[in-house]
Amino acid sequence: MTTPAQKPVRLRRRDRDAILSSLRSGVVPHVGFQHIQVGRAAEVSAMSQEIARIADGGSAVRFVIGDYGAGKTFFLSLVCSIAAERKLVTTSADLSPDRRLHASGGQARSLYAELMRNIATRSTPDGNALPSIVERFVTSAIQEAGATGGSPATVIAARLEQLSESVGGYDFAQVIAAYWRGHDTGNEQLKSDAVRWLRGEFTTRTDARAALGVRSIVDDATVYDHLKLIARFVRLAGFSGLLVCLDEMVNLYKLAHTGARKSNYEQVLRIVNDCLQGTVEGLGFCFGGTPEMLMDTRRGLYSYEALRSRLAENSFAVGGLVDHSGPVLRLANLTPEDMHVLLERLRHVYAAGDESAYLVPDEALTAFMEHCASRIGDAYFRTPRNTIKEFVNLLAVLEQNPGADWRQLLGKVSIDTEYNRDLEPLSDEPDDQNLDDTGALTSLRL
Ligand SMILES: Nc1ncnc2c1ncn2[C@@H]1O[C@H](COP(=O)(O)OP(=O)(O)O)[C@@H](O)[C@H]1O
Ligand SMILES: [Mg+2]
Repeated sequence: MTTPAQKPVRLRRRDRDAILSSLRSGVVPHVGFQHIQVGRAAEVSAMSQEIARIADGGSAVRFVIGDYGAGKTFFLSLVCSIAAERKLVTTSADLSPDRRLHASGGQARSLYAELMRNIATRSTPDGNALPSIVERFVTSAIQEAGATGGSPATVIAARLEQLSESVGGYDFAQVIAAYWRGHDTGNEQLKSDAVRWLRGEFTTRTDARAALGVRSIVDDATVYDHLKLIARFVRLAGFSGLLVCLDEMVNLYKLAHTGARKSNYEQVLRIVNDCLQGTVEGLGFCFGGTPEMLMDTRRGLYSYEALRSRLAENSFAVGGLVDHSGPVLRLANLTPEDMHVLLERLRHVYAAGDESAYLVPDEALTAFMEHCASRIGDAYFRTPRNTIKEFVNLLAVLEQNPGADWRQLLGKVSIDTEYNRDLEPLSDEPDDQNLDDTGALTSLRL
C-alpha cells in the first residue's frame, strides 16, 4: 500500500477543511476519501466492475455487510464517488422508521424525496442535482435539434417516447414536457413545479393536476417505479446511469410489525430480482447493513425465504477465502495496521499534504494507539470513529498551541467506546397488539 510518506500528495485547503470537520463531528466526509482511505482494494475493485456494468446499460445490486463501525457508510460514499467519476448519477439515503421502501403512510414517498434531495453528479457532489440534470436533458435536445434542423419539441418528444412505455412513464414524460414548455416560454413557475413533481414533493393529485396537468404523483406505491424512470431519464440526459445507496438497512429489521417488515423485504426482493436478472437499465443499488440484519432468520433478510436463497453466500468462501462476486459484500473491521496507516493519513491531511508541517512524529502515532488500546481495548480500531475524532482533536490543540508537548497531551486524551444503537434489545413481536402496516398502534381507532 502506498503511504503518504512514500507519495506525498498536496491537498486543496477546501478539501482538507471539509474532511477534518466531518471527521471531528463523527460523520463520514463527502469529499476527498482517497486522502484517508485505507484497505478495501479488493472490495473497491469488485464495486468498480459493478459500476462499469451499470454504465454499460446493465444493472447491479450489492449488500455491503459489516459490523457497526466497520466502515459501511464510508465505503458506500467511496463507491458513490467512483460511480460519479464514471458519469453515473448517484444518490443515497438512510432508511429510518420514517423512510422505508414500502409503506402506506407516506414513509416510502419520504424516502424517495430524500433520495431526490441527495441526488448528485460529479460536478454537483453535494446533492440537489436534479434541476441541473433536467436542464441538461433540455439543453442537449436543443443542441440535437440545432444539428439536425428539427425542432427541440420534436426531439424531446421522441426521446421521451421511450419512457412512456414504462409504468408511470406517461406522466413522467408529461412533466418533463412541462419543464420544456417552461424553459421555452420563460415560465419559471412551471419549471419549478416540474422539478417539485420529480422530487416527489407534491402531496395531492389535485395540486399536481392544477400545476402540471398530470393525474398522478409519486406516492408510496410507485417509489421504485419512479427510481427506474429516473434511471432511464438520466441516461437520456447524457449520464451513464443511476446508483442508489440505501444505508442503515437495520431499520427494516427493526420494524416491529411482521407485515410491515415483510412488505419492505418484498420490495427488496423486487429490486434484487430486477437487478440480478438485468430487467432494469442503467440502475444499481447498494444496501448497507449489519450481519444480523442479513442473517437473522427470524427478522433479518434471511427470514424471507426468496431473499435467503438469492443472497446465500458462497459456501466455499470460508476460512480466509473470499468471493467478491456475489451480491453480498462483507466488509471486515479495520485492523490495527489499517489504523496506523489511517493515523498517518490524518496527520498528512491535517498538514494539507506538507510533510514539513507534520505536527507529531511517527512515534506519537504508535503511542496514541497504545493509549487508546489501554482505555477501550480493541474498540479503538474496530469502531474507529472516536479514535479518529480524538486524534484530529489532539492535532488541533497542537496546532493552536505551538509550545504544547504531544506526550503530555496524550495522557489527557479521554476516549469512550462507541455506543452501538443497533444492539439495543428489540421488542418482541407485538402480535397481540393492533398494529397497522405502518407499524403505528391502531387500537385506539374507533
Ligand atoms: N476504509 C477506510 N479508510 C479510512 N477511514 C475509514 C474507512 N472505513 C471507515 N473509516 C472511518 O471509520 C469510521 C467508521 O466508519 P463508518 O463508515 O461510519 O462505519 P459503519 O457505517 O460501518 O458503522 C468513520 O469515521 C470513517 O470515516
Ligand atoms: Mg454507518
